[in-house]
Amino acid sequence: MIIAFDGHSSTGKSSLAKEIAKHYHFIHLDSGALYRTITFITILENKSFDELLDENYCIPFLTVKCDDNELSIFYKNQKLESQLRTQEVNSKVSKIASQPRVRDYVTSLIRETLKDKSVVADGRDIGTEVFPNSDLKFFITAKPEIRSKRRFLEVQASGGNSSLESIHQNLMDRDKIDSSREVAPLRVAEDAIFIDNTFLTKEETFILVKSYIDRKIEDISE
Ligand code: CDP
Repeated sequence: MIIAFDGHSSTGKSSLAKEIAKHYHFIHLDSGALYRTITFITILENKSFDELLDENYCIPFLTVKCDDNELSIFYKNQKLESQLRTQEVNSKVSKIASQPRVRDYVTSLIRETLKDKSVVADGRDIGTEVFPNSDLKFFITAKPEIRSKRRFLEVQASGGNSSLESIHQNLMDRDKIDSSREVAPLRVAEDAIFIDNTFLTKEETFILVKSYIDRKIEDISE
């Protein structure tokens, strides 16, 4: 079974997908982390995406493993986590993710790593491009001001010091680039369930999404 969560930044879709995956014992894929990884490595090595690739179309020293129902990403034996969420990565990731060759690389990597597995995946193009045959597709959004505030609180809680204004600007810039790129732009799949969680708590969003999934599982098993 494949469940896709696409939508705007800071709608809580990654933590929602993670909770849903945990609940149903599926694997969680945060596809944004892969675009962030490529951005992080290009910054670290001071190379373009094409310059990172070897003759086998691989990025040397990059490994993606499936541990505890989560994908873990390692570069040169170091697990990548907080390094992917810096302001520099935030400001560069959408431009890098708009390159067709980068999208091709990430999409192939996801399909190869998760072949034949039950997956809850979140991103911008999961239901439209990566897994168009997903059993259920959700599109999650919320009012921009609420999203910026949520991200601001998250950054503060993790000890960051970005201002609300700079976070808001970054989210708006990324939304614009993500929605207007030529390859696999962010859009609502025709068969997606649209959820605006501006006025919903995390728990309410979880309960709503779970009700659709439970119904789907019942339909499949009938
Ligand atoms: O967590 P947040 O919503 O801020 O972003 P993310 O899911 O980590 O994704 C970071 C960036 O990667 C997005 O702004 C997109 O530019 C890109 N992305 C994409 O193009 N396609 C995906 N399936 C996932 C992320």
